[in-house]
Amino acid sequence: MSNVVIVGTQWGDEGKGKIVDFFTEKADLVVRFQGGNNAGHTLVVAGQKTILHLIPSGVLHPQVTCIIGNGVVIDPQVCLQEIRDLKSRGYLKKEDQLFISENAHVIFPYHREIDLLREERRGKSKIGTTGRGIGPAYEDKVARMGIRMQELVSPERLKKRLEEVLPEKNLYIEKILGGRPQSFQEVFESYLQDGKELKKYVTNTSILLDQEIRQKKNILFEGAQGTSLDVDSGTYPFVTSSNTVAANACVGSGIGPKSIDEVIGVCKAYTTRVGGGPFPTELQDEVGKRLQEKGGEFGATTGRPRRCGWLDLVVLRHAVRANGLTGLVVTKLDVLSGLKTLKVCVAYKYRGEFFREMPSSVEILQECEPVYDEMKGWEENLEGVKRLSDLPKAARTYLERIEKESGVPLSLISIGPSRDQYILIKDPFTR
Ligand code: GDP
Ligand code: IMO
Ligand code: MG
Repeated sequence: MSNVVIVGTQWGDEGKGKIVDFFTEKADLVVRFQGGNNAGHTLVVAGQKTILHLIPSGVLHPQVTCIIGNGVVIDPQVCLQEIRDLKSRGYLKKEDQLFISENAHVIFPYHREIDLLREERRGKSKIGTTGRGIGPAYEDKVARMGIRMQELVSPERLKKRLEEVLPEKNLYIEKILGGRPQSFQEVFESYLQDGKELKKYVTNTSILLDQEIRQKKNILFEGAQGTSLDVDSGTYPFVTSSNTVAANACVGSGIGPKSIDEVIGVCKAYTTRVGGGPFPTELQDEVGKRLQEKGGEFGATTGRPRRCGWLDLVVLRHAVRANGLTGLVVTKLDVLSGLKTLKVCVAYKYRGEFFREMPSSVEILQECEPVYDEMKGWEENLEGVKRLSDLPKAARTYLERIEKESGVPLSLISIGPSRDQYILIKDPFTR
């Protein structure tokens, strides 16, 4: 048995969804532990695309139990819609395939409103959030003003909490942000209904997980976003409002750190970022456009075009350290086919100084220039390749470079969006 955490090593959208779906084959449970419906995880199975925002990416495997942990913030309407869509396609047939933590916090319309109004006020310096109310919901959790799933599913408690919280939120929306106050009755009635529908899934998932761990089950913990979007380790303030790193798999699901055996980082073969904030290897040229087009780099949640650039090994090494990675998955290697020369960023230059480690100040990072090493590209299409030895030599050299610079062994290479497009090197469940 093994318990494996899968996290993003860059700024999100590394292909975590596909990788979680792939490794779920060996898992008994899959747990989402942070973030909310700011995430968009894409799975392609037998030509059919599924985009998940809240439900764990193991859900297409009927034998697997999916858990939304206490560290996630949940928009009930989005959650219900995702459940309905999956059911209409023949998934989630058994009610006990999904459990939601009673301690997970709920996103309310005032969170979304505050998120949007704040972004508007920030103007040019906006973060470029997904507008889903993620930040304001996490703020309320920490401020002890949040409303949790256990209250959502209990009409009396929901009413009491909303009566306590909404007047203050309305005051803030109206007087500080210049928005429209929200009607208690409307919010209460709609959330009351959502609570009724979600009640059957809500339970103490920490106890449930503990029992499964004691029975030596295989558990996969699915991260959202990426290390450089982590609220502590990322490019603050251009980050999301949760800890995206592997350690939060424990906090966000109510288990202890000794239960984790392997930490797998997912690294795209180049870099993308959606929203604002520094991005040293960003390409504003034809190559950037080409990566965007060939890689289909448009947000799975908001549809926004993703900014694209070369692979940044400084960012990757930062992720190795912040997560304690034990294995690496490289995705979208196929997208690089046809480029004559590839560049990888090995360090930053800042006012004549060289940095091998990522600076923690965005002001400094904004000014950093990437120091590149050039590598040979390859022409061949990688579709259908099943073994490392069948990859073009230049592609193997590129992977070896990533392995060497990160100091982490490769676990899997992804060469297309589909579940069956992979080269397996070492399965994290086989120890
Ligand atoms: P996530 O948020 O990390 O789960 O990633 P997204 O789903 O937002 O974005 C990854 C995109 O790349 C999706 O459209 C996937 O279908 C696609 N994808 C994943 N792995 C590969 C790959 O190896 N090659 C190609 N071409 N596409 C991939
Ligand atoms: P997945 O799980 C890429 C980005 C937003 C914005 C910043 C803050 O699909 O990799 P938020 O709405 O969280 O307050 O926005 O974080 N962001 C993501 N970027 N992938 C994601 O998730 C993201 N989730 C949030 O674009 O820059
Ligand atoms: Mg995504």
